[in-house]
Amino acid sequence: MSRIPQGFIDELIARADIVEIVGLRVQLKKAGREYKACCPFHDEKTPSFWVSPDKQFYHCFGCAAHGTALGFLMAYDKLSFPEAIEELAERLGLEVPHEAGPTPARRADDDLYKFMGRVVSFYSETLARDARARQYLAARGLEAATLTQFALGYARDSWNDVLRRFGANEAERQQLTDLGLIIEREGGQIRDGERHYDRFRDRIMFPIRDARGRAIAFGGRIIDQGEPKYLNSPETTLFHKGRELYGLYEARQSRVVLKRLLVVEGYMDVVRLHQAGIPYAVATLGTATTPEHLKRIFRLVNEVVFAFDGDRAGRAAAWRALQNTLPEAREGREVRFLFLPDGQDPDSLVGSEGREGFEKRLAAAVPLSEYLVREVSADIDLSHADGRARFAEAARPLVAKLAPGVYRELVLERVAQTIKLSAVRLQELWNQAGTRAASAPLPTRSAAPRARISSGRGSLVRQAIVRLLQFPASAARISETERAGLDRLQEPGIELLRALIDDLKRTPAQIPAQVIERWADKPERESLEKLLLKEEVITSALAAGDELRAALLKLSELANTQRLEALQLKSRTATLDDSELQEFQRLTTKHPAAKLSR
Ligand code: GTP
Ligand code: MN
Repeated sequence: MSRIPQGFIDELIARADIVEIVGLRVQLKKAGREYKACCPFHDEKTPSFWVSPDKQFYHCFGCAAHGTALGFLMAYDKLSFPEAIEELAERLGLEVPHEAGPTPARRADDDLYKFMGRVVSFYSETLARDARARQYLAARGLEAATLTQFALGYARDSWNDVLRRFGANEAERQQLTDLGLIIEREGGQIRDGERHYDRFRDRIMFPIRDARGRAIAFGGRIIDQGEPKYLNSPETTLFHKGRELYGLYEARQSRVVLKRLLVVEGYMDVVRLHQAGIPYAVATLGTATTPEHLKRIFRLVNEVVFAFDGDRAGRAAAWRALQNTLPEAREGREVRFLFLPDGQDPDSLVGSEGREGFEKRLAAAVPLSEYLVREVSADIDLSHADGRARFAEAARPLVAKLAPGVYRELVLERVAQTIKLSAVRLQELWNQAGTRAASAPLPTRSAAPRARISSGRGSLVRQAIVRLLQFPASAARISETERAGLDRLQEPGIELLRALIDDLKRTPAQIPAQVIERWADKPERESLEKLLLKEEVITSALAAGDELRAALLKLSELANTQRLEALQLKSRTATLDDSELQEFQRLTTKHPAAKLSR
């Protein structure tokens, strides 16, 4: 591997801003001339991590970690030294020189970049000469300066403009093919003496540039009507769709300090937004926003707004973007979603409303957590326990994608709040569901007959079980008498309730998962899990204990009634013995209306 010249490293360090680089990864607070934060390299509650813009150095008084911007990138992003150099260089739009000179592969790539540069100029010159193409762009509101800034061009309606101009020999034709600019005819057929034809015909050409401004691909829009409307270069050695953002180079070239990026869907949107004074607009290239896009974005800014069309396709794309963003979302990063009115896109809106109107919309974009809750609850009725449980289930995998930390806690809280649950409680429920899913498959219906806990009077039993399950410690508050009151009761599920109480009194448990695990190989397990997840929300351990005892009281009254009825029934056909008579006496003091038949 060739060495990186020391002079270049010096230059990088001189030009990089450590506050910016650290600040994108750690939330810094200004303190005098320096910045401080809780150290990202060790656990601490009060900040002892300092970054000095003057010294371009960071230092932690707690764990003694220290270094330059490069050192920070290596330690924090876990990059190798050359990778950290590449990262800084890309930020600054510099190319890393190598003392031993370029490798053969690098030299081949250099040739391809140069080639692309010539093709970009060719398309631009063609545009300058083509009245129809220029008219089209003028009609779309683009100014001459914008065409130059984005190096827009035009590919004529010809099968061999590029081929003839740049493909004089086999080597060049190979390069053009590698760059995706010409296509080889099927089966090597030859027409008009040519085995290849131009990929882009009668299209406005949008060069896609890398961080250093080198054209690596094209997007081509058909003039007027035609299919497909947009045609992109294929993936090549220079071009990887999933990581490039159209307009990013131009955004970084603009003189404004980038604070946020706006991600839109189309080339035209980007160009028009830049022209209108929103130079922080970028577009994915006809693909969903990938995690790689997000990584690049967050290396540059802390704030990203996604703008999507209000139609169904736009909403689907927004949802994909959300899912890909979750792993990258965290404290200090702001992610918001903007939905445009139906039938409008950023291009048309900024045309009619101007920069200020559009930026007003941006200011009102929905934060990620809001969008998540809104979308997950879209067709769920949250006024019922079942709906809330479904909501919690649907939100679970999404929250699980967030990195642990403050941000996740906030989202968790927001989700819990939606179903009137505490965050702690919701997390507990999710954990149990998680361990269940991980530990053992649920018994199948045929293998284990389900213990049914029906509605009606049985719902009292159900209520009691749910409370015991959610707050197992409340079993301690059940008295011997309360427990004894259930002894003769005949209700669906009562055996499970009795077993639960006895078990929890014998061996106390604190969290629901313990209970579930104790019933792991019993047929009632499935019912217990369902009850745990589906049943209504109980706010506190105290409330759970009170409600549990109230249910037990009602159940023991029910048991008394059942017993009285049984004794009355027996008295019709037989004589009650002494103890039965005593029992009847005892029960009737509570139920004076009851009479024995004589
Ligand atoms: P205009 O009609 O020129 O304003 O373009 P638009 O950006 O409004 O078009 P649209 O909303 O239809 O598409 C948004 C983006 O999706 C485009 O910029 C392209 O990147 C991509 N796209 C649209 N149509 C096609 C297509 O037919 N093929 C491919 N590969 N990509 C497309
Ligand atoms: Mn459009």
